[in-house]
Amino acid sequence: MSLYKLSLSLVVAGLVAGCNSDTVTTESTFATDSAAQAQAAGISHGEYVARLGNCVACHSTPEGEPLAGGLKMAVPMLGNIYATNITPDPQNGIGEYSFDEFDRVMRTGVARDGHRLYPAMPYPSYAKMSEQDMRALYDFLMNDVQASAQPNLPEEIEGIRDVRWAMGIWNVLAAEDDAYEPVAGQSDGWNRGAYLVQGLGHCGACHTPRGLLMQEKGTEDGDSDFLSGAPLDHWSASSLNGDINSGLGRWSEADVAEFLQTGHNKFGTAFGTMVEVINNSTRHMSDTDLAAMAEYMKSLPANVEANATPYVASTAEADQLTALDFSKTGSSTYYEYCSNCHVTSGVGYYPYQPPLASNPVVMDPDPSSLINITLNGSLRVFTGQGPDVNDMPYFRQLLSDQQIADTLTFIRSSWGNTAAPVTAAQVTEIRDATDPTRNDDIFVLRMK
Ligand code: HEC
Ligand code: HEC
Ligand code: HEC
Repeated sequence: MSLYKLSLSLVVAGLVAGCNSDTVTTESTFATDSAAQAQAAGISHGEYVARLGNCVACHSTPEGEPLAGGLKMAVPMLGNIYATNITPDPQNGIGEYSFDEFDRVMRTGVARDGHRLYPAMPYPSYAKMSEQDMRALYDFLMNDVQASAQPNLPEEIEGIRDVRWAMGIWNVLAAEDDAYEPVAGQSDGWNRGAYLVQGLGHCGACHTPRGLLMQEKGTEDGDSDFLSGAPLDHWSASSLNGDINSGLGRWSEADVAEFLQTGHNKFGTAFGTMVEVINNSTRHMSDTDLAAMAEYMKSLPANVEANATPYVASTAEADQLTALDFSKTGSSTYYEYCSNCHVTSGVGYYPYQPPLASNPVVMDPDPSSLINITLNGSLRVFTGQGPDVNDMPYFRQLLSDQQIADTLTFIRSSWGNTAAPVTAAQVTEIRDATDPTRNDDIFVLRMK
């Protein structure tokens, strides 16, 4: 960030913080106003914005009332905090917030009483929201959400590590708080997609690698790290840029939209934390918004695979398995435990059992997601009225670390896939960290 940018964002932060009068309502544009898309999706403007921002994912627990808070989240190296009650209850929720106070906390992380929020709340992304969308969201939370008196839980951060005050410095160094400005020369769809992906959708919170201060290393298309894939809570949120094998380089815009709407497409099926993003947020979006996000994401260039050879299908391993030739390491375990769903040629049964051949997440340089889903299975994607009947079983008790490593290495090097081997040590680490009998490992961004 240049010094100019830095001082500019300081000035803007000052302006927002000091502003008590009603701000002028800006003119509606497709890029930054969600009203028409909400109508297309059949819900109110404010509820639609809440869906786009996926507030419910963090501000609810499975046992509690919607938006009443209580989800435990880890702040790396410091301790644990709880997402707060954002229902309109005056004591325990945000009932006393004026619009200006709400606008300030959503863009700069400064709460009504002046305390600073940890960036577990993705305000650096929400800062890009338009005035119209912010107002609609405020009206929805204040008028249409049932007030809940559920008290907020105290943070679990020891005195000396309580660095809320330092979040002001973090803001200056790590975050920008300017609302999204449509880029001249780009299409309406591209700008709308950028507004949703960089802003309300906070896709970078999981898919962009973080720096030393936990700041996202890139926040828009010009930054090569933006959406280039990142590890999180023992999953890997894979690359969403143009990387040809492990990113979206071989997907069409229609493939991207289909994935976000239904949780699957011909390349794969959503799993891990992405299931919650689809269930709570993207499957509620209008077709126009899905197309806009797809148009924007497909414009992101390749990062690490700019010169890589694109995937070419091969029948070698399918022929070996059919001939019961198990000379390739990992092939017998694959045949015995995986091939009845993912089949010997690795192509699965579209759209229910995902292919492993040509699937970008299978070729992710970071194998965490593959290890995690093989050990622990996956949550269910909701399609139409109810949950998908198909799901990935868990093999935690059935297979050893070495067997899982060998099977995944086989999958990553078969049918034309090209990715590095998986080691037993990598499996051991994730097996221990995700052991369901342990409760000391709190997730950083694991939603519900
Ligand atoms: C990725 C998780 C996450 C998402 C998504 C999220 N929040 Fe938060 N939010 C938090 C956490 C955690 C806190 C408390 C932070 C702290 O204590 O420092 C918080 C705090 C807040 C506060 C401050 C309330 C108070 O106690 O004064 C408001 C307001 C808020 N969020 C609104 C929203 C809205 C509206 C959305 C959806 C557009 C949203 N949040 C989405 C995690 C999230
Ligand atoms: C809470 C973390 C989280 C957030 C927020 C998130 N994702 Fe994901 N996403 C993941 C993980 C983990 C995966 C890998 C598992 C999978 O493929 O489903 C993934 C996978 C994907 C894939 C499939 C990639 C592939 O090659 O198969 C797409 C497309 C995607 N995300 C788009 C988005 C978009 C668009 C947003 C913002 C609206 C978003 N994600 C927000 C965690 C997240
Ligand atoms: C009963 C059918 C079934 C069996 C057996 C099975 N899987 Fe899966 N697998 C699935 C389904 C369904 C998904 C999609 C995620 C979901 O909906 O749970 C999946 C997803 C995956 C994924 C993520 C790919 C993606 O894009 O979703 C990997 C990797 C994977 N399985 C590996 C394995 C391995 C390794 C084995 C054998 C040890 C195996 N699977 C056995 C049904 C199965």
